[in-house]
Amino acid sequence: MKDAIVIAIDGPSASGKGTCGRYLAGKLGFRHVDTGAMYRTFTWHCLQAGIDIGQAPQVVEFLRRWPAELVTTSDEVRLEVGGKSAAGEIRSDEVSNTVARISPIAAVRIWMVRTQRECLRFGSVVMDGRDIGTHVFPETPFKFFLTASDEVRAKRRKAEGSGENTAERDRRDSTRKVAPLEPARDAVVIDNSHESPAVTAEFMLAHVEAKRRQLGL
Ligand code: DC
Repeated sequence: MKDAIVIAIDGPSASGKGTCGRYLAGKLGFRHVDTGAMYRTFTWHCLQAGIDIGQAPQVVEFLRRWPAELVTTSDEVRLEVGGKSAAGEIRSDEVSNTVARISPIAAVRIWMVRTQRECLRFGSVVMDGRDIGTHVFPETPFKFFLTASDEVRAKRRKAEGSGENTAERDRRDSTRKVAPLEPARDAVVIDNSHESPAVTAEFMLAHVEAKRRQLGL
């Protein structure tokens, strides 16, 4: 959609991207897009289909015939297959432990980036992920990079009931050759180790509103 606005939020796991992103989207009347959920959905379908994750050509072949489509509700855009979002299944430890092996595959990233750009056909979005400000929408003037200390992020994951060792996934995400996790040069970097999600999200909202006034958007 012409003139749609993109707010890009990147950061490692448990940095508050999802919570702040949903809050911002709600306040602005934009749709939220959780791009991690898109990588997770594809990973879950690969596991379900018995694809050998270690064999990139098998994964890419499966992606070519994967019948996923973008679906929108009033508050988000997400991937569904056959009318199902697999929202619960994609949070399993099995998917969490596998997704960072699938996400570095170049053909997977190309497909995801193209599909994420297509989300704009539904209007303005708040999109969170790892490479939104650097690769998916590098031209947007609204970019945030959220972070928090390793200890705080591990505690948040534990509180959510996850048994996953996120340090290993973060290491893979940050050191992969294609689109590694890093702040865009013009991103507002926020360390929220000692802030509540509400305070972080309010700060982000004030920043977006000031920037919109400044740019006339
Ligand atoms: O945000 P999340 O923890 O649900 O993301 C799951 C994985 O998906 C993450 O470890 C790396 C990958 N990912 C990515 O490579 N690029 C994105 N824009 C979003 C997620």
